[in-house]
Amino acid sequence: MRTTLAPGVKLAVHDLTMRYANGHTALRNLNLSVRAGEIVVVLGANGSGKSTFMKCVVGLNRPTAGSVEVAGRNLAALSGEALRQARLPLALISQNANLVKRRSVLANVCCGALGRHRTLATAFGRLPREAIEPAQAYLDEVGLLHLARQRAGTLSGGQAQRVAVARALAQRPHVLLADEPVASLDPEAADEVMRLLRRLATDDGLAVVCVLHQPELAMRYAHRLVGLRRSQLEFDRPASEVSSQQIANLYVGEAS
Ligand SMILES: Nc1ncnc2c1ncn2[C@@H]1O[C@H](COP(=O)(O)OP(=O)(O)OP(=O)(O)O)[C@@H](O)[C@H]1O
Ligand SMILES: [Mg+2]
Repeated sequence: MRTTLAPGVKLAVHDLTMRYANGHTALRNLNLSVRAGEIVVVLGANGSGKSTFMKCVVGLNRPTAGSVEVAGRNLAALSGEALRQARLPLALISQNANLVKRRSVLANVCCGALGRHRTLATAFGRLPREAIEPAQAYLDEVGLLHLARQRAGTLSGGQAQRVAVARALAQRPHVLLADEPVASLDPEAADEVMRLLRRLATDDGLAVVCVLHQPELAMRYAHRLVGLRRSQLEFDRPASEVSSQQIANLYVGEAS
C-alpha cells in the first residue's frame, strides 16, 4: 500500500513496537519523523532500544506493530524483494566501519553501489568504470580522495569511518542512519565525522538519524534530540530546547 508523507519528511515512524521472541519489549509505541536537511540524534542508556529502533527502520528487525514509512512505502509491511527495493533510500552505518581490509578504499566505496546495480556485482573483481567516478566524488566529499588507492586495512579509525560514510553515500540514500558512528574514535576524529554528518544534512539535504552516547556531541551537532528511556520516547525537541538535566535523566538508575 502506498502511503503519503508530509512535504519534506523522508522517514516517519508510527506507533513502532518491537517485542523480541524472548518476550522482551525493546520499543513501545514510538513516533518519530525526520525531514530532509535535518540531523536527529538519538540518546539513551544502554538497552533503551536505540539499535532496535535503527534495525526496525532498515528492516533488519520486523516490528511487532506500527509502521516505518520511507518514500511512500511502509517497510514494516514488506518482505523479500519488495522490502529490498523499498529500503534502497536508506543507508546504515554502524560503530565498526566494516570495510574489506585487503581491498582499496575506492573498491570499498564502489561496493556501496551494489544494491542499486546488480551489474556491479563484480565490484570486488575489477572495478567497473561506471562506478569509479561516482566513488571518487563520494571520497572527495568525505575529504579522502587522496587515499583512494590505499588498502582499507591501513586506515586510522576516523578515516575508516569516513570511508564507511562515503560507501553509504554511494547508495545515494535519502535517509542516512548511523548507530554509534563515533564510538571507537578519538575526540578529534569524532568531531570530524559528526561535522560530516551534519553537513550531509544541511548542504546535501539528507535526513540523518544518528545514535550517540556523547551528549556534548549531540548538543553541538544535532538539530533535534530524541531521548529514549526504557523502550519509550522521553523527549523529541530542538537541541537548543533540551536541558542537560533532561539528558542526565535518561541515564539515572539505568546502569546494569
Ligand atoms: N535479538 C534480541 N532478542 C532479545 N532481546 C534483544 C535482542 N536484541 C536486543 N534485545 C534487548 O532489547 C533491549 C534493547 O536493545 P538495543 O540493542 O536496542 O539497546 P541500545 O539502546 O542500542 O543499547 P546500547 O547503548 O548498549 O547499544 C536490550 O534489553 C536488549 O537486551
Ligand atoms: Mg545499540
